[in-house]
Amino acid sequence: MTPARDPRSDGRAALDNLRAWGVEELLVPRRIAPRRTPAKSGSGKAARLASLREEIGDCRRCGLWTERTHVVFGVGDPDAEIMFVGEAPGSDEDRQGEPFVGRAGQLLTKIIEAMGLARERVYIANIIKCRPPGNRNPLPLEIGACSGFLRAQVEIISPRAIVALGTFSAQTLLGTDEKISRLRGRFHPFHGIPLMPTYHPAYLLRNPNEKKQVWEDVQKVMALLSGREPA
Ligand code: URA
Repeated sequence: MTPARDPRSDGRAALDNLRAWGVEELLVPRRIAPRRTPAKSGSGKAARLASLREEIGDCRRCGLWTERTHVVFGVGDPDAEIMFVGEAPGSDEDRQGEPFVGRAGQLLTKIIEAMGLARERVYIANIIKCRPPGNRNPLPLEIGACSGFLRAQVEIISPRAIVALGTFSAQTLLGTDEKISRLRGRFHPFHGIPLMPTYHPAYLLRNPNEKKQVWEDVQKVMALLSGREPA
């Protein structure tokens, strides 16, 4: 039999995670305010996502198919309240078929856990579903061929907030060339959904001093979801 979990040790583990992640100050929402229209279990979103995945199929709509291993569709809870959107799969993601599973992905998982959530409770996707060779930036043609699928994912999941990870994701979703340092820290409307741009976890691996700013950004998202912050 699995021993009962001690909530105090769970709490301590979460705090240790935060400290290890570089966070000294805490503003944890007591609870996430319920959706205005609560997501029903069996809401049909899983089936709609599965049929979208089927529609993408063994995609050859742009040239990226020639070098990819997997189409990296997205992962997480179809009823998620928060959706994280990155740029494109890297080599680990291409190999495993799941977004954010490499070093940057492990840091993203820690960020999600520091928000008091489990990775399985959010939804994670990328603008581009196939790995650009050598991790180069996706080309406009590739974005054009792929971005409709992300739009469809957003429409199906209908999250209460989106976190755009990094320059490419934020600029593509918002249709701007404004720097991420100027975009981050406040909500921008994205088809009626509040979108918070923040630094990409890969950037944080190179610039750990910026973790504090990401923490501030995700705290705003949690405050929004708990009803304490207007979008
Ligand atoms: N970087 C991204 O933007 N997406 C991934 O899935 C992995 C790394």
